[in-house]
Amino acid sequence: MIDPSSLAESATRLIAQAASLDELHELQVELLGKRSSLVAARRAVGELPTSERPAAGQRLQAVRDEIERLLANRRAELEDEQRRDRLGGDRLDLTEVAADARRGHLHLVQRTRDELEDVFVGMGFVVVEGPEIETDWYNFEALNMPPAHPARGMWDTLYLELGEPETVLLRTHTSPVQIRLMQAQGPPIYAVMPGRCYRRDNPDARHIPVFHQVEGLVVDRGISFAELAGTIETFTTSYFGPEIHSRLRPSYFPFTEPSAEFEVTCSICKGKGCRTCSHTGWVELGGCGMVDPEVFAAVGIDPEEWTGFAFGFGIDRLAQMRHVIPDMRIFLENDVRFLRQI
Ligand code: FA5
Repeated sequence: MIDPSSLAESATRLIAQAASLDELHELQVELLGKRSSLVAARRAVGELPTSERPAAGQRLQAVRDEIERLLANRRAELEDEQRRDRLGGDRLDLTEVAADARRGHLHLVQRTRDELEDVFVGMGFVVVEGPEIETDWYNFEALNMPPAHPARGMWDTLYLELGEPETVLLRTHTSPVQIRLMQAQGPPIYAVMPGRCYRRDNPDARHIPVFHQVEGLVVDRGISFAELAGTIETFTTSYFGPEIHSRLRPSYFPFTEPSAEFEVTCSICKGKGCRTCSHTGWVELGGCGMVDPEVFAAVGIDPEEWTGFAFGFGIDRLAQMRHVIPDMRIFLENDVRFLRQI
C-alpha cells in the first residue's frame, strides 16, 4: 500500500509548483480524481485486516483533507496574482508626457470678416446683420429691380419652395440688409453688413456657390462720390498695404447711380495676368455707387435731403487676394494641410 505521508509530501511540492489556475485544476484531478493514487489507496484499505482498516482509512482521509487545504490555498494565491496582473495592466501611467493638444483656430474667411469689421469700426461704422433667407422684395424689388427686370439675370438665384413660387430665396447679396437697416432707422447711417450669400454659380478659381460679402452703407447730408472713393481707398490701403493698387471702373447696378466696380491688382501674378484673374491682371472685389433715389423712395427717405453711397465686397475674394490663394474652392474643401497654414 502507498505510504500516505510520501503522498502528502509529493502533493505539497506539486501544488506549490503549479504556476497557473489551469495547471492547478489538472493537478487536482491527478491528486484526488478517480484515477489518483489516493483513490487507489482507499480501495486497498478494503483488503487490509478488519482491525487495521479504521486507522488506515483515517490516515488517508487526513491526507485528502491536507491536499484539499493546500489546493485551496494555492488557488487563492494564484487568483490574487491574476487580479494584480490585470490591475497592473489597466493602470494609467500619469507620469507619461502627452503631446500638446492642438488648438483649433477660426477659418480664414471668418478671420477676414473679423478683420474687416475692425477696419470699418475704426473708421466709425457700426456692424449690422440681416437674414440669409430673404423675400423677393428685399433682395430685388426694393433695390429697384421690379419683377422681370433684366438686371435680375446678374444674380443666378436659388429660390426656396415656400409660399408663392419665386417669392422666397437665399439672398444673392448683402444689399437687402441696406433696405432693412434704412427701414429700421433713419439717416444718418454709417454701417457695414457682413454675411453669407448664395448663388447658382459654377465653382471656379474665383467663385463658390456659398460665399460672403460685406455691404457698406452711408447716408447723410452732402455725401458725394468723393466720400465713396476716399472710403474705399482708405480701406484698401489699411487692409492690403501699399503694394496692392486699386481702381474703380464704371459699371451698372440698378440700386446705385452712378455705379462702379472696385478692382485690385491680382496678387497671384502681381498684375501680369494669370488663370486666377482670367489674364487681366486685376481682380474684382466688389461693386459700389451712389444710392439710387428709387431705393430711397422704397424706404421713405427724402432724396432731396439725403444722399449716400453703398458698396458690396466679396470677403472670400479679399481673403484670396490678401493671402495669395490661386483657387478659392480650397476654402470649402476642409483640407487640414491648407487650414493649418493660415
Ligand atoms: C453685388 O452683389 C452687389 N450687391 C454689390 C453692390 C453693393 C453694388 C452695393 C453697389 C452697391 P456683384 O454681383 O458684383 O455685386 O458681387 C460683388 C462681389 O461679391 C464680387 O465682386 C465678388 O467679390 C463677390 N462674389 C460674387 N459672386 C461670388 C461667388 N460666387 N463666389 C465668391 N465671391 C463672389
